[in-house]
Amino acid sequence: MRLAVILLSFLFSAFLFACGNGEEGSSSGNAASSASQNAGLSDFELEHGIGPITSPMTMADFDIDMAQRGQDIFESKCAACHQMENRLVGPPIVGLTERRSPEFLMNMILNPGDMARKHPEGQKMMQEYMMVMPFQNVSEEEAREIVEYFRKVDKGQ
Ligand code: HEC
Repeated sequence: MRLAVILLSFLFSAFLFACGNGEEGSSSGNAASSASQNAGLSDFELEHGIGPITSPMTMADFDIDMAQRGQDIFESKCAACHQMENRLVGPPIVGLTERRSPEFLMNMILNPGDMARKHPEGQKMMQEYMMVMPFQNVSEEEAREIVEYFRKVDKGQ
């Protein structure tokens, strides 16, 4: 219980901090001020998330076997909270690869705690879904396979 209170107050102050930063100096264009507006996140992190993926990924042609492995992992570790079309505990999966970059999805899967606390998009989702997605103990390779499965879902194959 005490831990929950500490965690909540931490999240709340992180949220206030992020809001405060967003309001000041929005019209000044230099790099230092835009970095401080975004709690020190780089342009890459703002677009592609915070986590182990720190540079652009090369996306090869769609790979059906990889997608199948991703689907198996998804069904065992993710489907309890995510449905394809509808909101469940977390957001729906359909359309994710159109809204998010593969790097963003990988960082979200591999580092959901920091995403919820430190990334503006993660903070928004945390408010909307009222929880922080727990890390599901997947490797980087498994996360990549899951992203391939999401590609399959959005290709409708
Ligand atoms: C216990 C419930 C739960 C489980 C299990 C879970 N998630 Fe999530 N997921 C969430 C919630 C809640 C969010 C919204 C972000 C937040 O509040 O942290 C989310 C967000 C996401 C997002 C970001 C969606 C967007 O719109 O950008 C992705 C991608 C994602 N989850 C993938 C996965 C994958 C892949 C797995 C399995 C390895 C998984 N999740 C397992 C609850 C869960």
